[in-house]
Amino acid sequence: MITPLQMQKIKDYSKKMRWTINEGYWNHTTEVVKHSINLQKKFGGKKDIIEAAAWLHDIGKNKGRNKLEDMSKEKHQIVSSEMADKFMKEINISDEEIRKVCDAILQSHSTNDYPANKEQSIIACADKMAVLTDNDEARRWHGKNLSKEDKLLITNTLKDIFLHIKNSPFPSAAEYVQEQYVKKLEKYKA
Ligand SMILES: [Fe+2]
Ligand SMILES: [Fe+2]
Repeated sequence: MITPLQMQKIKDYSKKMRWTINEGYWNHTTEVVKHSINLQKKFGGKKDIIEAAAWLHDIGKNKGRNKLEDMSKEKHQIVSSEMADKFMKEINISDEEIRKVCDAILQSHSTNDYPANKEQSIIACADKMAVLTDNDEARRWHGKNLSKEDKLLITNTLKDIFLHIKNSPFPSAAEYVQEQYVKKLEKYKA
């Protein structure tokens, strides 16, 4: 079991990364934690593994500071999992728990191919839910002067994400973010 003190250390470690990319990192992360915990309450899975993975799932974006392109999609969950592994060893979390948390981080960008493992699929779903509910500041398009094409690309991305949430093993997930999804679509309407 990950103790409350260890969880606090994990949270603090994640929070230290808030200066990365921009403040959006922390808002996104707290949204992922919120959605993960809600999903866990409804659908089960190991709470401590899920919460730890949610706090740590994007810490690797730190390494890509000012080079967002390099840290997009494929790479940052690998870096995040390596950093998480090292940090959790330092605070004496067991090898088995570290492996479970890191596996969930590595799977966090799964889309239609949700992992069978409950902890992993919850993180993957919560990460998508957070894209629809966070404040956008972690997004590439934040604060940019957007062309019609940009907006079309963004709304298509949002639609894809919503569909991935709908296709998740968690029936109420899409319903839960529906309102904010509609608002976001409206915000980026071309
Ligand atoms: Fe990520
Ligand atoms: Fe994320």
